[in-house]
Amino acid sequence: MAEQNRKILFSRERIATEIKRLGQEISQDYGNQEIMLVGVLKGSFLFIADLIREIESPSVIDFVRLASYGSGTQTSGIIEFRKELEMPIRDRHVIVVEDIVDSGYTLECLYNKLLIQEPRSLKICTLIDKRARREVEIEADYIGISMEDGFIIGYGLDHDEKYRNLPDIYLVDES
Ligand code: IMP
Ligand code: MG
Repeated sequence: MAEQNRKILFSRERIATEIKRLGQEISQDYGNQEIMLVGVLKGSFLFIADLIREIESPSVIDFVRLASYGSGTQTSGIIEFRKELEMPIRDRHVIVVEDIVDSGYTLECLYNKLLIQEPRSLKICTLIDKRARREVEIEADYIGISMEDGFIIGYGLDHDEKYRNLPDIYLVDES
């Protein structure tokens, strides 16, 4: 992808500000209760690393690895579990940490799978909420930034596994 085909949509400063706010909201809601953050790999690895440092409530962390995309920019609708949780979530306050909610299929699939394991509570935190593309009824409880449509890269988000290392989030010109 040529550099002229992308432009900064959300700066690192904006991202940091929103994550600070999310950390405060979560800390207020949970107080001294222990939270288990469940990061959805790979896209959320930077977000969860920054978020957990803004949370004052006692926190533990685990990861799942889901894959829903081929090499294109459209969801395939088929969700594959490539890595399961290592810690039991029964009776825990769980927050799923996602990079982006797009069609919502990935999150719906994960949410239902976690719910049957009887967590004490189950909430969703996403850095980006891409509302215009929602195909299933699922709402995040904590939202960093809302946007309409468009494919974005950077700060953990990839295109064909590349660009996750960019410190800002860029909008890709798909034309
Ligand atoms: P969903 O199942 O359609 O909601 O897809 C969610 C997953 O697709 C996210 O966790 C991302 O990994 C990926 N994804 C969706 N939109 C984008 C984007 O604009 N850039 C990069 N990855 C995306
Ligand atoms: Mg993801």
